[in-house]
Amino acid sequence: MENLTEKQEAALARDKNIAVTAGAGTGKTRILVDRYLDILLHDTVDIRRVLAITYTTKAAAEMVERVAVKLDHLLQTERENKKRKRMLEIRNRLSSAYISTIHAFCNRLLREYPVEAGLDPDFGVMTEMQSGLLAEQAIADELNRAGGEADRWINLFRIFGAENISKMLKICLARRYEMISIRRFFDSRSDTEIFDDIMNEFLQRAGERFPVEKTDILRLLVKSIAEESTDAACGHEKAVVVVQKLESFYEQEDRSHAEFWNTLFTLSLQMTTSKRKAYRNAGSIGGKSSWSPAQIEALIRLSEQMIPVAEWIQTNPSRAPGSTDRMVIEHIRNFIEFYERVLGRYTLLKQSLSQVDFEDLQLLALELLQRNEAVREKIANQFRYVMIDEFQDTNGLQWEIARLLEGGMTDKYFIVGDPKQSIYGFRGADVRVFESVKKIFAGKQPVNDYEGNITLDQTFRFKENLNTFFNHLFMNVLNVEDDNPWQVGYEPL
Ligand SMILES: Nc1ncnc2c1ncn2[C@@H]1O[C@H](COP(=O)(O)OP(=O)(O)OP(=O)(O)O)[C@@H](O)[C@H]1O
Ligand SMILES: [Mg+2]
Repeated sequence: MENLTEKQEAALARDKNIAVTAGAGTGKTRILVDRYLDILLHDTVDIRRVLAITYTTKAAAEMVERVAVKLDHLLQTERENKKRKRMLEIRNRLSSAYISTIHAFCNRLLREYPVEAGLDPDFGVMTEMQSGLLAEQAIADELNRAGGEADRWINLFRIFGAENISKMLKICLARRYEMISIRRFFDSRSDTEIFDDIMNEFLQRAGERFPVEKTDILRLLVKSIAEESTDAACGHEKAVVVVQKLESFYEQEDRSHAEFWNTLFTLSLQMTTSKRKAYRNAGSIGGKSSWSPAQIEALIRLSEQMIPVAEWIQTNPSRAPGSTDRMVIEHIRNFIEFYERVLGRYTLLKQSLSQVDFEDLQLLALELLQRNEAVREKIANQFRYVMIDEFQDTNGLQWEIARLLEGGMTDKYFIVGDPKQSIYGFRGADVRVFESVKKIFAGKQPVNDYEGNITLDQTFRFKENLNTFFNHLFMNVLNVEDDNPWQVGYEPL
């Protein structure tokens, strides 16, 4: 097999946590496999002490296969007896290796500690079809019960409809981990407090994007137009509307008030074309005769200055939080209460059958690690190294499980992934986790200065000319907004 590049080699270091970020076909899985064997061959760590996680059963099987192939390859050239013996030993024990999906790993933990996890030692794992049916039964049971308390739930059902509520409940049941924090959030705050939070966040975002100097310029322009005798607007319908909007914006002085922003947003729509371009003349705002030349000049300048506002509201709320948001908060609280009932029912149904669902494997493993310190310590000590492939597909719950295996060591983790291959939402992957874990590894240092933060840029699959073409194409398409943690920036392949 070809030699590793210098950067790939750096990823084999075992004196620190390593995070490898690299595109498709850059040898990420290869390094993980090389590292896995390096550890077993050179550190003589027992095979049961190295955990390797990946995201599909197929990928896990492939990884075992790649380890076996590499071992065979090494055995062909290795002449030293002691080393050969070790290689053969590893080869023979590959079936007990901890190379699996995170779900399979959790299942293994729960089988080892069923009592501590509060499970029937013979628990079964339902297929997605089975758990889906059971969830539907729990939902139907609770909808029935709610039918007998119509007064209490009537608003919730009127707003969303029973069918939508069923769908929402099913999604929430599959996302129980996220629901825990949402529930906590609602439990710890009143509706008014939540509304205030949302409002403050809005004011902060809008305020940062359009600081007072900028909105003052707009207000001055508006003032200069509106102050001049407005009978110039001589009854022309559009001009009259514009004057009204200008005046209502000018009346708003308080940037911490919703109306300030709402009138600014409406004015930005009024003062720009439907394609969010600036007006070049008075044609669309009542015609030349409606305004004085000075007004027209100011209107055109105002129109130009309004473009960023009109653009901003295309990707941000186009109104400050208001009464609709207050109502939505109330409904969500109601919905969460109903969800709690369904969750209770679903849990009972599963318990009565001694079954867990797919998500339970992770949730119960997490609970076991969180609640039982003795078990956590034992498991954390068992694993000397933890390696995770396809880390871009790791969600908060999965990282939390991995993190609890740390046991106070600062060189245990090796994660590798390609943020661009992450599809948010698919099996609950969350690309933000990758970024935050890199920060954790780097500690006080900036991520880019941290030696364990490695980026691979040489791909072994693409042809060079295709590469150049794609780089050129995507450089222009993939621009990141600084404040959007969901977006992934462009890096050349
Ligand atoms: N240093 C190298 N020299 C030559 N070929 C290499 C090198 N490193 C890896 N390769 C080859 O490149 C191919 C892709 O490697 P690998 O599957 O490890 O990439 P990956 O980054 O994990 O890809 P993916 O993004 O699809 O998971 C493999 O055939 C591997 O053997
Ligand atoms: Mg790979």
